[in-house]
Amino acid sequence: MRLLQGLVFAAAWISGPTAAITTPKPSEACSLKARGPLLHKLQDAAIKDFAQIFFIDRNPKKAFDKYVPGRYIEHNPNGLSGRENAISFLTGFLATPGLTVTNLTAYAGGGFGHMRFREGVKGEFDRVVSDRLKFEGTCFVEHWDVSQDVTGQETNPLAWF
Ligand SMILES: *[C@@H]1O[C@H](CO)[C@@H](O)[C@H](O)[C@H]1NC(C)=O
Repeated sequence: MRLLQGLVFAAAWISGPTAAITTPKPSEACSLKARGPLLHKLQDAAIKDFAQIFFIDRNPKKAFDKYVPGRYIEHNPNGLSGRENAISFLTGFLATPGLTVTNLTAYAGGGFGHMRFREGVKGEFDRVVSDRLKFEGTCFVEHWDVSQDVTGQETNPLAWF
């Protein structure tokens, strides 16, 4: 994933030599102004990197500092808009003792970053979550999510996975 991102940025660098000296290393921060034929690849690399930092490294603040530079509109019914509200809630949640995150997929499409995963704490909760983050350039500015409880009593033996 990081390799892919490196390759994409290397390609952007090669095709834009005049920007090479003044442009900061793009992997250090998202860009609200990112445009052009590579945008989809940059967005796909961005949501994959966001998912890695957020869920695998378990560092929501770092993920938000890199990919949510300002405006952040929240549509989760239990949350409120604003970067700091999200960081504070998510930092607490990711620190939940025993929290597992599995079956994580992340990809970009249609101007959105999508993440789908299963999260739970044994004996407490088990659910499948789908997140949608709206891109502006390679940054995120808006969020929606839905979640569904896993009960173990599902009719469908192929439920979710
Ligand atoms: C979902 O995660 C579980 C636990 O890691 C794993 O055994 C299973 O193969 C995964 N399913 C899919 C479809 O990735």
